[in-house]
Amino acid sequence: MNAVQSQAASGFALELRDLRKNFGKTEIIRGANLQVRPGERVAIIGPNGAGKSTLFNLISGRFEPSSGEIHLNGRRIDGLPPYEINRLGLARSFQVSNLFTRLSVFENLRCAVLWSMGHRYAFWKFLADLHDANDRAEQVLEMVGLDKRRDHLAMNLTYAEQRALEIGITIAGGSQVVLLDEPTAGMSKSETRRFVQLIRQVTEGRTLLTVEHDMGVVFGLADKIAVLVYGEVIAFDTPEAVRANARVQEAYLGSVLAEQQAQGH
Ligand SMILES: Nc1ncnc2c1ncn2[C@@H]1O[C@H](COP(=O)(O)OP(=O)(O)O)[C@@H](O)[C@H]1O
Ligand SMILES: [Mg+2]
Repeated sequence: MNAVQSQAASGFALELRDLRKNFGKTEIIRGANLQVRPGERVAIIGPNGAGKSTLFNLISGRFEPSSGEIHLNGRRIDGLPPYEINRLGLARSFQVSNLFTRLSVFENLRCAVLWSMGHRYAFWKFLADLHDANDRAEQVLEMVGLDKRRDHLAMNLTYAEQRALEIGITIAGGSQVVLLDEPTAGMSKSETRRFVQLIRQVTEGRTLLTVEHDMGVVFGLADKIAVLVYGEVIAFDTPEAVRANARVQEAYLGSVLAEQQAQGH
């Protein structure tokens, strides 16, 4: 890549170039390309096993790609460890909950803030920054609507509250690019509706990639939809354009929409 191309690439918050990942002999991510602009909200949809979580694991540095490139704000990040990618401004939530269940809501948030400030080892630095961390944790507590649960143990929260805490932990460090893996999984319709509103608020002004199955949520939340099928992004466009895309209809959306309509969604 020459300097001019490198400059052009820096217009994107996140860019995937011909990204591939094999597990053994099986290629799971098969040449994925994606260009996300700063501030865009992108929903990633696709059948189970398409590779959505794997894609997030690659972007966040949990897995190393077999080949291809990942750029965050124009800077190449593939091959970097997760904490460095996080330090460069990318945070993710997990499909399975990642809370310290025996710590309070506030302590969970404060840990996330401190971690983002680089306090894994240096205790003296930790003391110096504790005040800032407390302020930031209080702020996030309010953002995710858990101020009344401040001193409850995470294990005693309702399911929806735990998911809200999870979002708080994800954004606590102030990352500009946020990846959420099925944030509304397991929620009722009304919980989902409220939660989408929360996601909108806390990710305001940030770049969001979210894996989501509920098409109502997808069409309500996303500026753009990326359709991942067999490890390839087969469409990346506005919700209207994706809905009208014949290839997407055939590969995925036709059957899902029919199913969700039949269930009365
Ligand atoms: N660590 C792993 N080792 C081997 N296979 C994996 C691993 N992680 C995911 N896979 C496989 O990759 C495929 C895609 O999985 P995943 O990314 O979880 O799909 P999705 O999130 O779209 O449902 C699945 O067939 C899954 O079994
Ligand atoms: Mg998944």
